[in-house]
Amino acid sequence: MSYFITLEGGDGSGKSTLGQALVDQLKALTIPVLWTREPGGSEGAELIRSLLVTGNHDRWDGLTEYLLLSAARRDHITKTIQPALRSGQWVVCDRFFDSSLAYQGGGHGLDQDLLLSIFNGISEGLIPFKTFLLDIDPTLGLARTQKRHHHEVRYEALPMAFHERVRAAFLDLATNNTRYCVLDACQPPSVLLTKVMDELACVLPS
Ligand code: TMP
Repeated sequence: MSYFITLEGGDGSGKSTLGQALVDQLKALTIPVLWTREPGGSEGAELIRSLLVTGNHDRWDGLTEYLLLSAARRDHITKTIQPALRSGQWVVCDRFFDSSLAYQGGGHGLDQDLLLSIFNGISEGLIPFKTFLLDIDPTLGLARTQKRHHHEVRYEALPMAFHERVRAAFLDLATNNTRYCVLDACQPPSVLLTKVMDELACVLPS
């Protein structure tokens, strides 16, 4: 049995660090696992990523952005995620469709039904087994990202009110949904990893 696990949260919430630690831990348990990300994770999707994360924040409107994300997601699902799951690998993914609900839905105000209907058309029924939401005050998260020297600054340049809406949308999604596990992103990495492993204990080999 292979599992599709996603990590979600605002910019600078520490998803990548936690995801990599999780992948290392699963490998130590001899579980075959693929670490991937959105936008990106396949050759075509990485090309689309570079269009999405660079340039001025008004380079794309919310809907155009979502269509680009969906094209990238379709390529990622069919070329990377599904083949890995079919071959028996677990897949740990840094962001997935919940990020669209939070950023394009919550942040840009796109209609959730529209987002869902496009997702349903491209996703081949893929739903994460478990989603870890790293919750952080966006002021802290964005301060963390500014310490990095990188060129992927398009989203980080959006106003604080946008990032506040993204955070609220993520928390709203997690309410009353057992697929999610909400984690306080300010906890030390080792504590976060222990909580994630505890949450997955029911599917780990004994
Ligand atoms: P990353 O820095 O976590 O790799 O993500 C790059 C940006 O992409 C991040 O600021 C959030 C944005 N994004 C969306 O707006 N919608 C989506 O569906 C995804 C997957 C990412």
